[in-house]
Amino acid sequence: MSNPATPPAVGVLDERAPLTFPPGFLWGAATAAYQIEGAAAEGGRTPSIWDTFSHTEGRTVAGHTGDVACDHYHRVGDDVRLMAELGLKSYRFSVSWPRVQPGGSGPVNAEGLDFYQRLVDDLLANGIEPWLTLYHWDLPQELEDAGGWPARDTAARFAEYAQLMANALGDRVKYWTTLNEPWCSAFLGYGSGVHAPGRTDGAASVQAGHHLMLGHGLAVQALRATLPQAQLGVTVNLYPVTPASDAPGDVDAARRIDGLANRFFLDPMLRGQYPDDLVADLAKVTDFGHVRDGDLAVISTPMDLVGVNYYSRHVVAAPVPGEQPERYWRAPTNWPGSEDVRFVTRGVPVTDMDWEIDAPGLVETLRRVHEEYTDLPLYVTENGSAFVDAVIDGQVDDVERLAYFDAHLRAAHEAISAGVPLQGYFAWSLLDNFEWAWGYTKRFGMIYVDYDSQTRIPKSSARWYAEVIRRNGLAAQ
Ligand code: FCB
Repeated sequence: MSNPATPPAVGVLDERAPLTFPPGFLWGAATAAYQIEGAAAEGGRTPSIWDTFSHTEGRTVAGHTGDVACDHYHRVGDDVRLMAELGLKSYRFSVSWPRVQPGGSGPVNAEGLDFYQRLVDDLLANGIEPWLTLYHWDLPQELEDAGGWPARDTAARFAEYAQLMANALGDRVKYWTTLNEPWCSAFLGYGSGVHAPGRTDGAASVQAGHHLMLGHGLAVQALRATLPQAQLGVTVNLYPVTPASDAPGDVDAARRIDGLANRFFLDPMLRGQYPDDLVADLAKVTDFGHVRDGDLAVISTPMDLVGVNYYSRHVVAAPVPGEQPERYWRAPTNWPGSEDVRFVTRGVPVTDMDWEIDAPGLVETLRRVHEEYTDLPLYVTENGSAFVDAVIDGQVDDVERLAYFDAHLRAAHEAISAGVPLQGYFAWSLLDNFEWAWGYTKRFGMIYVDYDSQTRIPKSSARWYAEVIRRNGLAAQ
């Protein structure tokens, strides 16, 4: 949590000097299976909670689904060629659980697995390090029907799936992350319900968060036993949380939201305990009776790295009776026990998601994880921005997205200078894609996708990023 009443300057940092990153810095781009693959019913794949959710009326903007998405499943060879042209050192992708283990139990589906084997082989042939995320939100529907993440058994099923993947790809994939953003899975999926499976139950969202972390710990143990050389970790989405003023009510609001957004996950995984104040804040929602002896030891199984996704800052204030609730990830029901905290907008520049642009928040976030939690290597596993893009004469000149990347890379460099062992950065995203409840209406890609023709057009930010990678840093401006 930041100091009260001192929200730092937003937007770009001041330095405009050339900046060089450490040798071997892992420059990458990220995607997720459901957002790009399409081929939802091919090769033995069964529905995930996102198929069910997106096909339910009113859940996504204009009823968009991931049925086709970027058709990456059929265009994977061309897409890897585009990555090679960018000079990517690494590509972070996720595996669709119901593609490789239909229904979420039983043996591996050879046809589904073959897709990832070809992807990994093709990446390696192009000198691109595969970075595999096991779970980017696409739980097999059958497991949701059996209780989903609020049910303890889902953690065991996840570890079993992790084992299947380790057996299949462990000889070629060095970097493995278990979960992507468990906060979103738990609180958007089971709290506000704006994400799949769309449930709205505060206690269930807290249980989901616990079982996601339990699944993570069990998966790390399974992967470690099979792949002693692998680099294992998790990706969390973190926010600096700043009180709107130094009034005690605002400071307490920031403490509460920091507890739910950040410490709910960092403390169990990196310290082996839930923070006392968070447990107290949640007392009217749950008694934590779902936590069994030994769980926290499993959850805090040692890892090799921590992935941080960073997009924006939360500025919060004490409740005011009758105040209108915010929507989406600031919806009250994402914050069980702290529903009445107000999220304040500062009127600074925002992206097309309405997320405030705050590059110094990345420095603050990375320093906090390093200084308060761990000496482990850190990676920015996602960072990026949605803006409205226009294709003019076959080109997309996305100056705002380019400036966003530039500012955040300067922030990443500042964190390194401050002693943070940051070893890589993954732009979100390689391609425009299915942005969850927003469907195809929000574009985050460095590469433009025309969804009618499936044409790809590298934007200005992609060409700029290729140059950043080539020189291992930023040019003077
Ligand atoms: C993150 C998700 C990613 C994408 C970006 C914009 O929360 O991990 O899939 O939606 O936000």
